[in-house]
Amino acid sequence: LFAGPVSFLKGVVSMEGLPPGDRVEVCFAGRSNVGKSSLINALTGRKGLARASNTPGRTREVNFFALGETHYLVDLPGYGFANAPVRTVERWQKLMKSYLAGRPNLRRAFLLIDARHGVKPVDEEIMDLLDRSAVTFQLVLTKTDKIKAGGRKRVLDQVRERLARHAAAYPEILMTSSQTGEGMATLRAIIAGIDSQ
Ligand code: GTP
Ligand code: MG
Repeated sequence: LFAGPVSFLKGVVSMEGLPPGDRVEVCFAGRSNVGKSSLINALTGRKGLARASNTPGRTREVNFFALGETHYLVDLPGYGFANAPVRTVERWQKLMKSYLAGRPNLRRAFLLIDARHGVKPVDEEIMDLLDRSAVTFQLVLTKTDKIKAGGRKRVLDQVRERLARHAAAYPEILMTSSQTGEGMATLRAIIAGIDSQ
């Protein structure tokens, strides 16, 4: 799947603007700056496909990327602190939550967690929303290049403990780095394995 074509389809600012739900869809959610857009670039091997930035609040639309003929990868605006006006942030957060709760062809939400910081209360709120909406989600720890060997076990223990109480959680936790490429092959295989049945 990832050897084939990938292209930007559209950026959406309202639920009405969503493309027809006729493909397998997976999305990338998480706090602002956690590395959602960078992960899409690393997965597809296209550096500037999704715009990444050091400033939290870079992605402000629900961005659709067509992967082959069968899948959409969806880059979401982050939650938590964003370097943008409050009203604007509220608008895009509302859209992000409506999308997560109400997209019938959303097959899995990858919930990104910074490996240095672990699960935060705002992440729990999103996990509760996904539980209520019965959207299967899988945790992806990002920026593993920034932590030491001992830090891995510590963050994994914390994350496992938090995950235990969420009904919609997929048990396997992925360790990734868009910088070193750790976890990319695994994540590609998981996405390719989510087929249209
Ligand atoms: P918003 O769109 O603002 O919500 O952010 P985002 O989650 O899309 O994060 P983005 O991909 O824009 O990355 C934020 C910052 O983290 C950028 O400066 C990236 O270069 C950096 N970053 C992303 N992934 C990694 C990683 O695996 N390792 C390291 N060291 N830095 C990373
Ligand atoms: Mg982004």
